[in-house]
Amino acid sequence: MKTAKLKIGVLGSGSGSNMQSVVDAIQAGTLDAEVRLVLSDVPDAKILDRARRHAIPCHWLDCAPFKTKLDGEAEQRCIQLLKHAGVDTVILAGFMRIVKPALLKAFPIRVLNIHPALLPAFPGVAAWKQALDYGAKVSGCTVHFVDEGTDTGPIIVQKCVPVKEDDTPETLHARIQVQEHIAYPEGLRLLSEGRVIVEGRRIRIQG
Ligand code: GRF
Repeated sequence: MKTAKLKIGVLGSGSGSNMQSVVDAIQAGTLDAEVRLVLSDVPDAKILDRARRHAIPCHWLDCAPFKTKLDGEAEQRCIQLLKHAGVDTVILAGFMRIVKPALLKAFPIRVLNIHPALLPAFPGVAAWKQALDYGAKVSGCTVHFVDEGTDTGPIIVQKCVPVKEDDTPETLHARIQVQEHIAYPEGLRLLSEGRVIVEGRRIRIQG
């Protein structure tokens, strides 16, 4: 199998706990990768503080005039920064914008996302709340490649959690996040080990 140290670029808008799980896995020696760059569309996002704490280059990416997507000049700047940093794998970690085809074309089958539900159920925002409101008895998280749809790309790893009767959106999200922090490093490890075989929209894990 062809193994390769991943050169990761992270896009995030929030607390960055998923990015932290990736950094922790690298430091623990369970993931052969380095985080080369962290970009956030939110100037004071905690993910930038975390990056600074680990001496990872990071920037605020001004995405105006767009509110919900990464497009236009910001998208071009994002691609430029990622390429300049030598990134070969882009991970969305709580990035609250739709990414457009130019970014996907710049990193073919190398843009990943983590979604806080078992896709294809509950795509879109606040997926844990959607699962709770729907009355689902299990939920979880999904690591998947990003395609041009919203949370529709091929699935690499999924983890389940129970939905409890006394759950609130916060308690359910917290339980899902515990699994996210296992699933993202695991998906990336499979990728770095060359074990993720994409067959159309189905993914086979080799070995
Ligand atoms: C996670 O629940 C992730 O699944 C979703 O946004 C949240 C980001 O959390 N896409 P964090 O910023 O990684 O802590």
